[in-house]
Amino acid sequence: MSLIPLTSTTTSINRAAFQFHDLHPATETFRDDVLNGLAQPRKALPPKYFYDARGSELFEAICDLPEYYPTRTELAMMQASAHDMARLLGPDCLLIEYGAGSGRKTRVLIEALAPAAYVPIDISRTALQQCAAELAAAYPKVNVAAVCADYSRPMNLPVIEGITPQRRVIYFPGSTIGNFTRADALGFLRHAHALAGANGAMLAGVDLKKAPARLHAAYNDAQGVTAAFNLNLLARINRELDGNFDVAAFEHHAFYDETEGRIEMHLRSRREQSVHIAGQTFEFGNAETIHTENSCKYSVEEFQQLARDAGFTPAQCWCDAERLFSVHYLIAT
Ligand code: AVJ
Repeated sequence: MSLIPLTSTTTSINRAAFQFHDLHPATETFRDDVLNGLAQPRKALPPKYFYDARGSELFEAICDLPEYYPTRTELAMMQASAHDMARLLGPDCLLIEYGAGSGRKTRVLIEALAPAAYVPIDISRTALQQCAAELAAAYPKVNVAAVCADYSRPMNLPVIEGITPQRRVIYFPGSTIGNFTRADALGFLRHAHALAGANGAMLAGVDLKKAPARLHAAYNDAQGVTAAFNLNLLARINRELDGNFDVAAFEHHAFYDETEGRIEMHLRSRREQSVHIAGQTFEFGNAETIHTENSCKYSVEEFQQLARDAGFTPAQCWCDAERLFSVHYLIAT
């Protein structure tokens, strides 16, 4: 791992200072990804673009839905087992988090672990700044260095002066790893393995395979919040890329593919229509879909094998009593 000096700013909110390193991809990346994705014979958009300010707000609402079990299950597991996790992860680590989120699970981990430094990495600048400010204020002894970047790509970590961490620990909660196809998850875990470095570790939250009806309900909630979250991607394209999607002419479509072991989310056109985005035109047939998300589900053994294939040694795994969700401790060997 090479360490390159990065231009950074130190932000101070309520006297709590944190470093902020901006490696955020330009708007062109969003535009190019959208124009490319919609030009494919099977239209698709990357799920990372769900999380603009409105999308992040809708995702928080999803986490509170009665049907959406993952967030509350994983949080309860952290509350029950954070001290066991901390004992395994060891003192004075450099805690790297992929995705900043609302920080609730992270707080439980930080309180038990007392890391030397905390490095949240997220593509959403606003969510990241808020998370970093809150955590820096709550834990004045922990160095906070936020990195605004796309963590699915290889990157260099900022240098944090004045600390000598024992090891790097990557925290990747929320089963966000499910967004990658199985093949891409392997490549991603190999990057994570390289970033963790010798004797580093990863703590990953992974949603488990279970009765399809339970999974279906979690992505087709009665209040339609998941539908709004999915459809917000079209509204975001309208807002940021000068698009003219008639959002009401698309519908949320989510189903569990048992053979693939994954939820697929799509936006389905309710009629034949054309849409203009950034000066380009896209034709939609009636019932044609845009594939917006995969959410892969793993058995414990399946995920452990994937981790081994990426060079990790699975060393411990926690599950809730209903076996809905798993948290894996992996050592980078
Ligand atoms: C944040 C990617 C884990 O796949 O369950 C929730 C996103 N999509 N409802 C998931 C999501 C629809 C979520 N992840």
